[in-house]
Amino acid sequence: AASHDPSPTSSPSPSESILVRAARGEQVPHTPVWFMRQAGRSLPEYRALREGVPMLQACRTPDLVTEITVQPVRRHGVDAAIFFSDIVVPLHAVGVDLDIVPGTGPVVAQPFRTRADLDRLPELTPETVPDITQAVRQTVSELGATPLIGFAGAPFTLASYLVEGGPSKTHQHTKALMYGDPELWNDLCARLAQISGAFLRVQAEAGASAVQLFDSWVGALPRADYLRFVEPHSRAVLEGVADLGVPRIHFGVVTGELLPDMAAAGADVIGVDYRVSLTDAVARTGGRYAVQGNLDPALVFAPWEALEAKVRDVVEQGRQAPGHIFNLGHGVLPDTDPTVLTRVVELVHEVSAR
Ligand code: CP3
Repeated sequence: AASHDPSPTSSPSPSESILVRAARGEQVPHTPVWFMRQAGRSLPEYRALREGVPMLQACRTPDLVTEITVQPVRRHGVDAAIFFSDIVVPLHAVGVDLDIVPGTGPVVAQPFRTRADLDRLPELTPETVPDITQAVRQTVSELGATPLIGFAGAPFTLASYLVEGGPSKTHQHTKALMYGDPELWNDLCARLAQISGAFLRVQAEAGASAVQLFDSWVGALPRADYLRFVEPHSRAVLEGVADLGVPRIHFGVVTGELLPDMAAAGADVIGVDYRVSLTDAVARTGGRYAVQGNLDPALVFAPWEALEAKVRDVVEQGRQAPGHIFNLGHGVLPDTDPTVLTRVVELVHEVSAR
């Protein structure tokens, strides 16, 4: 499967890569493409490496992190790698008792509900995560000209896992805390913003060429609540890393109503899920932001002709933005056929070539 050399010797630096230039809205020879959750369960070579290794342990073992991060670049020839980790890794690193349960997701031993629980969220410093610095450094070196995207969870999405104690469709305890004790909610999110921002900084300082802030579940909120309870904290994270000079991508699911606010919170690139067309996303954000997205991950299971037409349509709509990074509208589904993803990469490169 190793058909793409991730580190050609005579190539430019990843900070001048096609992905970074598209994020800045500069002219690029073709549309860059990567896939959320490209490093993971859809790849047999990933499953082989993970055999008998719990998820959190894998995330804290630099050699495994590097190999898993590079696997999809070798296989698919994507234009970026996403750092193999999880949004709860920085929480685990500061001492929160949690686990990532296969088939379920993050589970927190004692949910966060009271002011006393804030004591369980100390600051994150580079000294908290030396393994992450090491993993990023050696991954960047292995990737050569291919840029590495660092990431973190945004305060709302992290708070939801902490307050609910695990995944939730309703976010009922989170919303109850938000409305019942706004002061505690704000203090909780301020701590999470510090942790999230510091985790992004560690990755960028170790060599990541772009960062993505995942506010996956914030689409559960109406706009007024987003602006009042969430936006200031996400803004603190994004503005807090502005000095690093790496493009900042801001993404959530079912966030069609929030796109203008999420873009204005300090993003360079707005991530678009598959429910909103890129044309509408560009219009809603005033044509001022690069966009990332947004092929429905389920369409990878459709007949090739239908999928091909959809990929061409997404590339075409992306031309209306100052810059476009092709991606799925959410993560790769676990039983995706990876050979189809490789074909999508080739097609995006071919039809977008200038
Ligand atoms: O390829 C990549 O995108 C890099 C790695 C990555 C993982 N998680 C690995 C992972 C990234 C970027 C994440 C981010 C993440 N984690 C998000 C934001 C992205 C999104 O999907 O909206 C969220 C909400 C989480 C929390 C989380 N962790 C979930 C929902 C799950 C899946 C639960 C399941 O098993 O269905 C996890 C576990 C997880 N994170 C896995 C991987 C590869 C599966 C772990 C395993 O092998 O058991």
